[in-house]
Amino acid sequence: MANYLITGVAGFIGSHTADTLLEAGYSVTGVDNFRTGSQQNLESARKNPAFELIEGDVTDERLMSRVFEQHKPQAVLHLAGLVSVPGSFSDPALNFRLNIHSTDVLARLVVQFRCPRIVFASSAAVYGDAQKLPCQEGDVVDVRSPYAMAKLVSETILSGYAASFDLTAISLRYFNVYGPRQAPTSDYSGVISIFAQCFIKGEAVTIFGDGLQTRDFIAVSDVAVANMTALTHEHMPSGVFNVCTGRSMPVNDIVSIFQKRYPDSCEAEYVAARTGDIRHSCGDPAELNRLAGFSAQTGFESGLNVLLNTPEP
Ligand code: UD1
Repeated sequence: MANYLITGVAGFIGSHTADTLLEAGYSVTGVDNFRTGSQQNLESARKNPAFELIEGDVTDERLMSRVFEQHKPQAVLHLAGLVSVPGSFSDPALNFRLNIHSTDVLARLVVQFRCPRIVFASSAAVYGDAQKLPCQEGDVVDVRSPYAMAKLVSETILSGYAASFDLTAISLRYFNVYGPRQAPTSDYSGVISIFAQCFIKGEAVTIFGDGLQTRDFIAVSDVAVANMTALTHEHMPSGVFNVCTGRSMPVNDIVSIFQKRYPDSCEAEYVAARTGDIRHSCGDPAELNRLAGFSAQTGFESGLNVLLNTPEP
């Protein structure tokens, strides 16, 4: 049974990916320092004997060497990092350690231990305020935060190692991911988890700006499958790939969908647009589809059903 190593396994995307790999019959070694991840996210993974959790930091090279030596992963999925864009402004040094240094540590370890593949969690943040839509992987990047800078640097580190050593390095640029286990109350909460929480509690949602800004929302279950595909697909080449649906939706439409489900809800409140907010974001999903056959399967309404019908841990 092939073993896959996931860093940041107790996070939103990490825990869903672990569940998906385990359900597919793979074994998973997960590393997390529980800075932002939670044990509750691992409730179902931990029931599976093919799952092993190691508590620690991915920048701890001694610990990580032992993990590679003992578990001999077939591939690594590197999700651990600073997930907050505002956090990357307030603590750029932490952003460097968690979002750049950690990638270099792992890249060196995969080379040293002859692990053939590393998959990295990059972000649509690297496109910034894109000049043309949908964003394609070859488009000019527009880095507007230390967070986006770090994602781009990590992509470059990985493509450098892939070109220099016998290694496949895949960077996945996630667009706006939503679904169960995304904390609704932190500064990296996505709009959908915030709105879900408000509608459930009967509170008014806040819309920043006119609500006509659009995003390409992808369900976390689809992202987990994209991750599994990048880890396991036999002929995956090194490169950068969008993980998105190719469809975008205005924030106002999301509110309307919620309002239909909660007809007695309060009116939404419009306030000034968030500083630095991107107007439109939409990715072209064709490359990952062409090379690995991946396409997002979850429509927005059914993704929302899953979110609203999954009990809080
Ligand atoms: C997302 C990512 C971010 C990444 C960026 C890249 C999340 C949580 N964040 O930011 O890490 O750098 O894509 O493009 O996925 N909004 C409201 N009301 C709210 C909350 C948000 O109107 O209560 C609006 C925002 O102003 C924004 C839109 O909803 O226009 C989406 O916001 P958000 O979910 O925070 O994601 P991004 O800003 O796209």
